[in-house]
Amino acid sequence: MSEQKYILVTGGVGFLGSHTVVSLYEHGFVPIIADDFRNSDRSIPEGLKKITGEDPIIYEVDVCDQLKLRKIFNDFDLQGIIHFAADKSVIESVKEPLKYYENNIGSLVNCIKLAEEYKVNNFVFSSSCTVYGEPDHTIVTEESPIKEAQSPYGATKQICERIIQDVNQRGSNIKFLSLRYFNPIGAHPSSNIGELPNGVPDNLVPYVTQTAIGIRDKLTVFGNDYDTPDGSCLRDFIHVMDLAEAHISGLKWLMSNTSGISEVVNIGAGRGVSVLEIIHTFEEVSGLKLNWEFGPRRDGDVGKIYADITKAKNILGWTPKFDVTAAMKHAWEWEQKIAE
Ligand code: WQD
Repeated sequence: MSEQKYILVTGGVGFLGSHTVVSLYEHGFVPIIADDFRNSDRSIPEGLKKITGEDPIIYEVDVCDQLKLRKIFNDFDLQGIIHFAADKSVIESVKEPLKYYENNIGSLVNCIKLAEEYKVNNFVFSSSCTVYGEPDHTIVTEESPIKEAQSPYGATKQICERIIQDVNQRGSNIKFLSLRYFNPIGAHPSSNIGELPNGVPDNLVPYVTQTAIGIRDKLTVFGNDYDTPDGSCLRDFIHVMDLAEAHISGLKWLMSNTSGISEVVNIGAGRGVSVLEIIHTFEEVSGLKLNWEFGPRRDGDVGKIYADITKAKNILGWTPKFDVTAAMKHAWEWEQKIAE
């Protein structure tokens, strides 16, 4: 066992990956990033150094390239893997399904093959609440039924969870933990890293802050006739730093276990917040009036869903620390920082 706790973080300069890299350093791990920057800005490593004081260790590789990824397993005695690297746009996945199946599934298979060969037995997989599809009940537990995927993106997450289940059933020394994220929002409180969507954001919060800063003219709220208190969709918005910390709790939990487990855990704030509440919270923290209007529903949107996070509390000992107000404050501070 090496004295350094090296952890491979695929997609480690992405939105979720970069914030998790910060938490890994804070908890005494040494993250080794594998990322080809296809979805990430080249300013992120500098932001990471400002927060951690460390030069991030980055291998600029396509995680689907097993030969190049193997180099990392040869260079470091890895104690674990956190696999974020994947394409994540629901809308894009409908237009380019083959890109999503090739990348999201191919990268996972590569990581598992190398993990088994090099005996890296602690494996955290980045899954998603989209695996639930349109749930029968608003609050979902890990035992809630897995419904028909609403997009090729959601289907890739379901297939990846199935691959992990089949490897575990076949027998493997790898201990797997799949974290089903709900809606990660916000940015690091220092404003040195945050969400940097390519092009026009699909997601709500970056669209809100880009509208407020003047990059976008007006936010459209997709639908006002849902069966919710204010007619807009209900979601589980979780601060990205809480999500990052959940990965540390998950890694430590895996390391404390004997081999051959495979668990799935919801990672959300455990409360439902509507689109209109996000807008009103933003207006409170910014002191600005946001330019928005109602529009038609967006295809594929679920009306209301949020997480039961009892399992995360019970087995990982993890609970979220930030609320939506903090998340919107940090998101807005980040948007203003990158506009400087
Ligand atoms: C949230 C709400 C929209 C934009 C995504 C990913 C999913 C998962 C969670 C990772 C919806 C509304 C949005 C806009 C709007 N992530 N909205 N106007 O769709 O819940 O899920 O994050 O795995 O994979 O797809 O997030 O931010 O796109 O939408 O009214 O301009 O905001 O209708 O109700 P979503 P989102």
